[in-house]
Amino acid sequence: MLKTSRDQALSPQDRARLYETAFPTYPPVVASHGWLYGTWILGNNYKGSGYYGAYPPGYLKRVTSMFPEAKRVLHLFSGSLPPGDYVRFDCREELAPDALGQAHDLAAHFKVAEFDLVLADPPYSNEDADRYGSPMINRNKVMDQCAIIVRPGGNLVWLDQVLPMYRKSTWLYWGAIGIVRSTNHRFRIANFFQKRDCSDEPNCAMSRTHATGSPEGERQ
Ligand SMILES: C[S@@+](CC[C@H](N)C(=O)[O-])C[C@H]1O[C@@H](n2cnc3c(N)ncnc32)[C@H](O)[C@@H]1O
Repeated sequence: MLKTSRDQALSPQDRARLYETAFPTYPPVVASHGWLYGTWILGNNYKGSGYYGAYPPGYLKRVTSMFPEAKRVLHLFSGSLPPGDYVRFDCREELAPDALGQAHDLAAHFKVAEFDLVLADPPYSNEDADRYGSPMINRNKVMDQCAIIVRPGGNLVWLDQVLPMYRKSTWLYWGAIGIVRSTNHRFRIANFFQKRDCSDEPNCAMSRTHATGSPEGERQ
């Protein structure tokens, strides 16, 4: 029987209510049968950082409205995000992230179960990765690294054009929100994962101090 942590009390219904309270004039996100779904049409960000691949306007406010309990937050692939009440991780020194490194070695930079919430905005393709001067990530490996640093009951929101491979024994996939920016922009999905408490299982990422990633490589 797979478990989620007891301290993770908020259900998808609770998250949907939090969103509705924060944005009462917007169409709601819907929670049903333990699943959260919706579509956000966010528009262009003319006042944004101008950084290639920067978050669409309002995206972070909408996501974080659903996680009031998250005190320790990591922005993985933080790009142009300004310093804030969170930790920024990126591989580009010129962006001056709080932690500089390769996502494949993420867990080497942090403590086990250090974060309540990880918000990830990876490059989506080889072409994107070229723009950042870094090889395309192996999504499975990064998911495994996230499993080490997210506490049991904590969450990972992974924005992508591809659903990353994930271990069902490690992550509960509990929501997907379609992200539409505007014409001629790619569609994306914000995927919501909750870290299970798998500490008594042999393959549990929490039992490793440094993940080596999946031996199977990228399984797409
Ligand atoms: C889509 S952008 C994120 C933009 C960010 N959401 C923003 O609003 O500015 C992806 C980021 O991932 C970083 N990146 C690419 N490959 C990486 C890797 N292997 N490890 C860590 N960061 C990486 C890039 O430098 C880039 O800043």
